[in-house]
Amino acid sequence: MCGIVGFTGKTQAAGFLLDGLERLEYRGYDSAGVAVLNGGSFGIEKTTERIKNLMDKTDGGSKLPGTDGIGHTRWATHGAPSYENAHPHTSSSGKFAVVHNGIIENYIQLKDELKADGVNFKSETDTEVIPQLIEKYYEGDFLSAVQKAVSRLEGSYALGILCTDCPGTLIASKKFSPLIIGLSENANFIASDVTAIVSHTKDILYIEDGETAVITPDSVKLYAADKSEVKREKSVINWDIAAAEKSGYDHFMMKEIMEQPAAVAQTVDSRIKGREIVFEGLKLDAEMLRNTDRIEIVACGSAYHAGMVGKYVLEELLRIPTNVDYASEFRYRNPIINNKTLTVIISQSGETADTLAALKEAKRLGSHTLAIVNVVGSSIAKAADDVIYTWAGPEIAVATTKGYSTQLSVFYMLAIWAARQLHSAGSERIERLFDELVRLPELIERVILNEPQIKEMAKQCGDPKSLFFIGRNIDYAVSLEASLKLKEISYIHSEAYAAGELKHGTISLIEEGRTVVALACYEQLFEKLLSNIKEVKARGANVIACAVEGHTEVASEASQVIYIPRTDPLLLASLEVVPFQIYAYYVALYKGCDIDKPRNLAKSVTVE
Ligand code: AGP
Repeated sequence: MCGIVGFTGKTQAAGFLLDGLERLEYRGYDSAGVAVLNGGSFGIEKTTERIKNLMDKTDGGSKLPGTDGIGHTRWATHGAPSYENAHPHTSSSGKFAVVHNGIIENYIQLKDELKADGVNFKSETDTEVIPQLIEKYYEGDFLSAVQKAVSRLEGSYALGILCTDCPGTLIASKKFSPLIIGLSENANFIASDVTAIVSHTKDILYIEDGETAVITPDSVKLYAADKSEVKREKSVINWDIAAAEKSGYDHFMMKEIMEQPAAVAQTVDSRIKGREIVFEGLKLDAEMLRNTDRIEIVACGSAYHAGMVGKYVLEELLRIPTNVDYASEFRYRNPIINNKTLTVIISQSGETADTLAALKEAKRLGSHTLAIVNVVGSSIAKAADDVIYTWAGPEIAVATTKGYSTQLSVFYMLAIWAARQLHSAGSERIERLFDELVRLPELIERVILNEPQIKEMAKQCGDPKSLFFIGRNIDYAVSLEASLKLKEISYIHSEAYAAGELKHGTISLIEEGRTVVALACYEQLFEKLLSNIKEVKARGANVIACAVEGHTEVASEASQVIYIPRTDPLLLASLEVVPFQIYAYYVALYKGCDIDKPRNLAKSVTVE
């Protein structure tokens, strides 16, 4: 997500801010900005280009004199990447400047309230409500105004705030978004991660969710939400820059695997109002859904695999025939679609050339296009009739993990939302599914706890010539993704098969010692999958299985079993994919592969 830096000290702030923002570039961003307090007003500079451009514009910071400042790299969520939407944002009078990381879920309600008070907004962001709210509550006490304002915010935030009345005071506040305070002799800092400050100090004060900090050049005071003062000892970190960028992980891929519970929570929670699912600004409505006689899902690679899961979920709950196609095939096959077809386009980057071309083709043929995209303001997001963003934050490893997982969660929400509009599934089933959807982040956390077992399995995998993944229904869709993960980063040949297809040819490849990974989580077809396991085992295969807790009978057939928690069968993919992301990671690690940048691959495939 976005990156934040803040400084209050006895020396100039701008140099620190620009240096910190440059160190946060690895997180990905689409715009950036800084505000420095000088003589009762803010000097502000922003860019929609690189931090280098911000440096040039400010002459390395010297055009922004002052000893208190805040800076931000933005990864757009609300409002496209633009100068106006870039942070810092200021209140109407210019008294308060704010940088924010996170998502304010009730910003529309707050914006309406502030507009009714006569406030004019300059940006499309959720963030801008924050300086305006602080200004509304300000009666001469900076801290108290901030505390009142943050008590109104729903969602997630890490904030750096300055006030023109209070030179030498930086206020920070945090809830569900990362923020740390750095301590040094001549200045104190804030940053969204240690990367930005590790070259200045190793002394860190952690700020917890719900707390607010009042920071001056030589003191830091922490306050709980109830305004009582909190005492906390500083911590000393010994990370270098490279470790800090990856939050201590060796690779972005592992960091992103571990971020999945939070990414799914961010994507889901922000759409849930009570027991309703609300997609702000969606044009697709009940009437359009009733008019839809077919759904086409179009994507590439892992996004296509997420679409395969989407097909099972949508067909089951909506009873609308749903087809999934590779974008590179769809765009050239003269597809039979029209204004009764809903085309769902999936892309993490929003820039994949074939997917964008397929979207344009679907639009040309009169279909309503709904894009599921992670990068706000990307070409696909702009071209589609409707967009539902996955809020996974920037994904840096080439092998997608949290991008895929958040795409799945959007499908679940879309299916539940549409089934409620169409009354196409029993309400009890939908309510149970909704409850399970809300629990998903916690269940994914539980799967991640199996990491040591999976690591050991990966060690035993070695470097085989080839291996197979098999499954049925949703298990099959996950097999495809698990197989792709393994081959793209470990360069081991692997194939995924619908288990029932084995007998039609592929079983001839099963020989003594060949590893077959059997995904046996889909309860309704468990017995059938068990038979397939027996068939390959009888031909000498070494079977690794994944099953839901309680299905211990699989253990007598497989050499190793990974168990995942029980949930609604439609949500299984979100849990069973995780062990195989971790498996692929460790197999590649033991082989010494370049995990984050596998050979021949690019993060975003912008050519056909
Ligand atoms: C998966 O790990 C890949 N890197 C790749 O298959 C990717 O999912 C595909 O290229 C589609 O990318 P997109 O989601 O950005 O459109």
